[in-house]
Amino acid sequence: MSHNKILEIQNLSMEFGGLQALDSINITFYEKEVVAIIGPNGAGKTTLFNCITGVYVPTRGNIFIQNPYTQMKEKINGLKPNIITRKGMARTFQNIRLFKNMTVLENVMIGRHCHAKAGIISAMVRSKKTRDEEARIIHDSRELLKKVNLVDEQYEYAKNLSYGYQKRLEIARALATKPFLLLLDEPAAGMNSKETAELMDLLKEIKKDLHIALLLIDHDMHFIMNLSEKIFVMDYGKKIAEGTPEEIQKNPLVIKAYLGENI
Ligand SMILES: Nc1ncnc2c1ncn2[C@@H]1O[C@H](COP(=O)(O)OP(=O)(O)O)[C@@H](O)[C@H]1O
Ligand SMILES: [Mg+2]
Repeated sequence: MSHNKILEIQNLSMEFGGLQALDSINITFYEKEVVAIIGPNGAGKTTLFNCITGVYVPTRGNIFIQNPYTQMKEKINGLKPNIITRKGMARTFQNIRLFKNMTVLENVMIGRHCHAKAGIISAMVRSKKTRDEEARIIHDSRELLKKVNLVDEQYEYAKNLSYGYQKRLEIARALATKPFLLLLDEPAAGMNSKETAELMDLLKEIKKDLHIALLLIDHDMHFIMNLSEKIFVMDYGKKIAEGTPEEIQKNPLVIKAYLGENI
């Protein structure tokens, strides 16, 4: 396993009015790792994702990414979400965000379009170059739909898919942006046990075939312990523990955060 850093979070804080949603967080992520962030509701997990992906500009601290292919290191706080996606970090949302009135295939194509070379003018005149690029995008998008097992649904409207299928489509769309890090905010939430087991297999396959790093938030401990190599635990905006799944399950601070004081 390689140990190139891909994301470094240094002293990251995020305040909303008087509320300290993130309090001096330091975390380093490495290439191809599967990492989980856990913690009670309101701990700051989604806020951390929002800072990493450019939805929020952090109040203090820094976020650096290092592209594993070019080794170029750069500070990304303050950059817009679409710019950060293009630099190689993609995410799915706690509440599914899809283009509900577009087809499954079109939803994935939109993800892939973030790297398209053809500008708006050439798209209007539909040069040969643009048509070739479009054909390639359709081809690549179908390949991704095969990977997430949605190729039979490619012409369905996104809104007609079951919940578990919509989650898989959101993952396919995120993968279409060709990330080196995929962030998944509660991917198993609301899924039944069969859908969760399928999602677990899919994420294992993504890790094996695409060699990308995964960063997961979830409350399903079986899911998290089964997938992750490393776990960070948050409570009240602070990182309170980190370690392997075995270490985390034994950590008294973690048990206290989950079960309260009186145990
Ligand atoms: N946009 C916002 N404005 C004000 N408060 C927010 C905002 N986003 C999150 N918070 C607050 O920050 C804290 C952490 O929230 P969040 O990151 O969503 O927690 P988690 O994902 O761990 O459940 C909560 O107290 C939440 O109410
Ligand atoms: Mg959340």
